[in-house]
Amino acid sequence: MTAIEKKLRLKLGIVGKGGVGKTTVAGLLAREYAVRGRRVVAIDTDSNPNLGLSLGLSLAETEAVPVLPRAAVVGPGGTAAAADLIAEYGRPTPAGPTLLSAIKVAAAGAGCTCSGHATVRSLLADALEDVDVTLVDMEAGLEHLSRSGGTLAHADVLLMVCEPTRKSVLTAARTAALATELGIPDVVAVGNKARTAEDVAFFRDALSAEGIELAGVLPYDAEVAAADRAGAVGLQVVAPEVQRALGEVLDALDALQSCAARSAPADE
Ligand SMILES: Nc1ncnc2c1ncn2[C@@H]1O[C@H](COP(=O)(O)OP(=O)(O)O)[C@@H](O)[C@H]1O
Ligand SMILES: [Mg+2]
Repeated sequence: MTAIEKKLRLKLGIVGKGGVGKTTVAGLLAREYAVRGRRVVAIDTDSNPNLGLSLGLSLAETEAVPVLPRAAVVGPGGTAAAADLIAEYGRPTPAGPTLLSAIKVAAAGAGCTCSGHATVRSLLADALEDVDVTLVDMEAGLEHLSRSGGTLAHADVLLMVCEPTRKSVLTAARTAALATELGIPDVVAVGNKARTAEDVAFFRDALSAEGIELAGVLPYDAEVAAADRAGAVGLQVVAPEVQRALGEVLDALDALQSCAARSAPADE
């Protein structure tokens, strides 16, 4: 495998403040990668999982996705092979990606979710030979970067979703600092729910003041919000301006990966 092929296998963590649109953006990006012919595994690590809905599954289908077994760890010295876990626990979605559910809180007082985070960490560390893009939809908060080892420590890119609010940009800045400490190579932001040119300017200025690269801005789309309220099932029609913005974000991510591949040392 050449360095470029290896690097073009993308492992992407989607993070951000609660409600900014992580799950929506994760679903749209995963779908767009699949449309571009990439083999995608989308991992839901939210303890209240609903990435399946964004990938076109019904609520019943989303809830029926089996949760990865507790304490499964892949890689050297682990308990399972990544391909076996994906084959047994992954579910196809109308959007194209295979969905894995890593963490679910099914009962009050059922204990912590550490083992699910350890499983995701080990999956990201693995080579995942048959997968082009591994995309992880995270729960809000910073714990996935601070917990022992960091759930996303082996991600290539952290995509921090922001809405046009100061607090979401502050969250991104705190996240970026932790991600850099963990050694995640690329940390970029995507603006979401932009309604006006002022919103777009806010993303550009506020993020650049924090030294954070902006990979693209997705507009506020009333159809996305309405489909969510209606509990719409199946694949949504994506508005042309959202589609354009998604294309820009994917191109920006591909450019990051190509740069990383060019600067990587020669490989086997
Ligand atoms: N670009 C967008 N346009 C309109 N509504 C959006 C957009 N992105 C997300 N939303 C809405 O915002 C709410 C929170 O989105 P969600 O993806 O669940 O956020 P998170 O995963 O960050 O908690 C949902 O109601 C969703 O439909
Ligand atoms: Mg979410």
